[in-house]
Amino acid sequence: MIKMTEYAKRRSQLMQKIGPTGIVILPSSPIAQRNGDYDYPYRQQSDLYYLTGFNEAESVAVFAPKRAEGEFVLFNRPKDREREIWDGIRAGQAGACETYGADQAFPISDLANKLPELLEGRTEIHYALGLDKAFDKALMSALNKLRGKIRNGQQTPLCFKDITDTIHEMRLIKSIGEIELMRQAAQISAQAHVRAMQHCKPGVNEYQLEAEIMYEFNRHGARFPAYTSIVGGGANSCILHYINNDQPIVAGDLVLIDAGAEFHNYAADITRTFPANGIFSAEQRAIYELVLEAQLAGIKAAHTGAEWPAMQDAIVKVITQGLIDLGILKGNLNDLIETQAYFPFYMHKSGHWLGLDVHDVGRYKINGKWRTLQPGMVLTVEPGIYISADTPNVDKRWHNIGIRIEDDILITTEGHEVLSHHVPKSIEDIENLMAKS
Ligand code: GLY
Ligand code: MN
Ligand code: MN
Repeated sequence: MIKMTEYAKRRSQLMQKIGPTGIVILPSSPIAQRNGDYDYPYRQQSDLYYLTGFNEAESVAVFAPKRAEGEFVLFNRPKDREREIWDGIRAGQAGACETYGADQAFPISDLANKLPELLEGRTEIHYALGLDKAFDKALMSALNKLRGKIRNGQQTPLCFKDITDTIHEMRLIKSIGEIELMRQAAQISAQAHVRAMQHCKPGVNEYQLEAEIMYEFNRHGARFPAYTSIVGGGANSCILHYINNDQPIVAGDLVLIDAGAEFHNYAADITRTFPANGIFSAEQRAIYELVLEAQLAGIKAAHTGAEWPAMQDAIVKVITQGLIDLGILKGNLNDLIETQAYFPFYMHKSGHWLGLDVHDVGRYKINGKWRTLQPGMVLTVEPGIYISADTPNVDKRWHNIGIRIEDDILITTEGHEVLSHHVPKSIEDIENLMAKS
């Protein structure tokens, strides 16, 4: 768990960055109705969560540096016995102050009245315009209420700044508390992958393996996946974001599972590929070894001081050489890399930042230059080779082999730590695990 003092420290760092006359306004994610009286499970907006730890819907966090009545103002749902009987306990305004450290808290219904007063005397509104139309409108009407004061000189004209980049750069470097949660998310996800391998046999359905994954997530307190699990057998292993997960697993096919738990709002993102009947065929083995070699090369390239493309460069080199060695590509290594001849087989990037969001925030380039890795960043390394049956000019013995191997990597001062190391990934370890099941 992250301590409330850590959230307070983040808010104070953010307020330092925006200066004494700025104001930050962060609305919560809107509630998404599923149908009738039911909503989708609520997921807090990650920036708001990062700065408050507050997980309730219908809230707005305001940070107003040097404000006499307090810098952290939270608008949230009031206590309401009837609603709490139906939907669950709310923090209310007292809880907002006592538990979450707000200096002042008001019912969310007071927002329209209070906003103009909060904006008064400020010169810059740090707010992400355009993300939430309903809130944009509320903010515009608050601004209109201030116009009279601008005209008679009591208020400086306000300008908007998008706060997201500033918060996202803070989110990119994970604290010790965040790393601990991510380690747990990865550990739970690793156990889920092991369980799916143990329960796989020809004839089970993809959704049954998804169920084993969800069982393991849920029983460790990770109620939701960080993204919809991908469980694809055979031809489906070649569909990058396959989520139908409704086909029977066939003997002789591969199974690709890309699944990660969300634990205390932090994501894991792990992929493993294994044979349905527990033993790789010669062709599957050849491609698997190649993807694994590429992944290990990508992970090796992920260390403090490395530039972001270092992982992709290492992966592309191994994959291209391997495809030449297998006779799938023909030509000179450098020429084939130059012309991206690997692209029909490996059509995505080496990975992405990982954190509160599975494709986490933070820039990849700064002033047009690739960023270098630093301790505290967490990223995925996830090469793959996908040979669908309609890939041109490939012998059919390679068809329907889709293999991705993905791990979660913490950059450290010494190099890196593989947070998701608990799932087997060598051929030998996978076959041994499946033989014992
Ligand atoms: N699970 C989505 C991805 O690997 O990026
Ligand atoms: Mn993934
Ligand atoms: Mn990923």
